[in-house]
Amino acid sequence: MPSDIPESIQFLHDTEIGLGAWSWGDRIVWNYGKGYSDADIEDGFKISLENGVHFVDTAEIYGNGRSERLLGQFLKRTETPVIVATKFFPLPWRLSKASVTRALRASLERLGLERVDLYQIHWPSPLVPVERYVQGLASAHRLGLARAVGVSNYDKNQMQRAYTILSEYEIPLASNQVEYNLLNRSVEKNGLLVRCKELGIRLIAYSPLAMGLLTGKYSPENPPPGMRAGKYAGILKEIHPLIKLLTEIGQDWGGKSVAQIALNWCICKGALPIPGAKNVCQAEMNAGAAGWRLTPEQVKALDSTSDPFTR
Ligand SMILES: NC(=O)c1ccc[n+]([C@@H]2O[C@H](COP(=O)([O-])OP(=O)(O)OC[C@H]3O[C@@H](n4cnc5c(N)ncnc54)[C@H](OP(=O)(O)O)[C@@H]3O)[C@@H](O)[C@H]2O)c1
Repeated sequence: MPSDIPESIQFLHDTEIGLGAWSWGDRIVWNYGKGYSDADIEDGFKISLENGVHFVDTAEIYGNGRSERLLGQFLKRTETPVIVATKFFPLPWRLSKASVTRALRASLERLGLERVDLYQIHWPSPLVPVERYVQGLASAHRLGLARAVGVSNYDKNQMQRAYTILSEYEIPLASNQVEYNLLNRSVEKNGLLVRCKELGIRLIAYSPLAMGLLTGKYSPENPPPGMRAGKYAGILKEIHPLIKLLTEIGQDWGGKSVAQIALNWCICKGALPIPGAKNVCQAEMNAGAAGWRLTPEQVKALDSTSDPFTR
């Protein structure tokens, strides 16, 4: 259960890699119910803990609460401390700061917890100013419902506003969760990654495997199923040189996989990747991406090979 976690780990600066739980219950993008079961997911969760991955990221909207419920069940069946992060979704009728604590209480109920380690605003709202939801985060923290608070998908300006408001309450902004992988390096280009480092905010990298593309298993002849096929149709044709380089670097490392090299690249950049895993095999492989570092030359080679098509 998430207790007795030292302060430094709470704020994630000692955490190299986590586990993403979007596919745990989601049918729309991930085809939950087809090809992987709750038992597969739990085995993946357990092997992650055994391999030192203690940070799990979920959200109230993943599988309409199913992901939080599953995680709650798994937490009851383990003694290993887990750092639990979930997220508030800015639904259009959630206009008050009180909606943040209300939604968090519902998440806690599904998770079977009295508090979470990290509570994040999932997306900035077009209807609600940054300050209002962040005040809701501050209330959640002061009520003891969240040990730390963060944001997600906030640009540099929105993140700065969140940071400033929280500073007035003497609460650190722990994290900003954004898409970051070898096919999308916009956080390097727009200065967000550097600003996070300057302010001591952990950049959590979501979709660090580009939703499975950076495992090397998909190609134009064998595209990913469902919605992912459309999203990545164009880029699938271009990434062969990158997959080749990831494979070669993996061989230089004595047989590390394409996914492990892609995740380690994220770690080398100073981000915290949270790859999703549907089963024991994926979770074990992803856990093996931590605890070592690519050489600076390998990172540079991956940068220049991805440059022509990365966002
Ligand atoms: N804050 C946000 O707005 C936001 C948005 C997106 C994601 N997230 C978070 O980030 C987490 C990770 O992102 P993601 O799930 O979008 O994408 P991802 O981590 O880049 O890819 C996950 C998918 O890749 C495949 N995979 C994973 N490990 C593998 C391995 N070792 N070998 C082969 N295939 C493997 C699996 O799908 P298949 O087997 O079906 O290929 C898996 O579901 C999510 O779970 C969620 O917690 C947050």
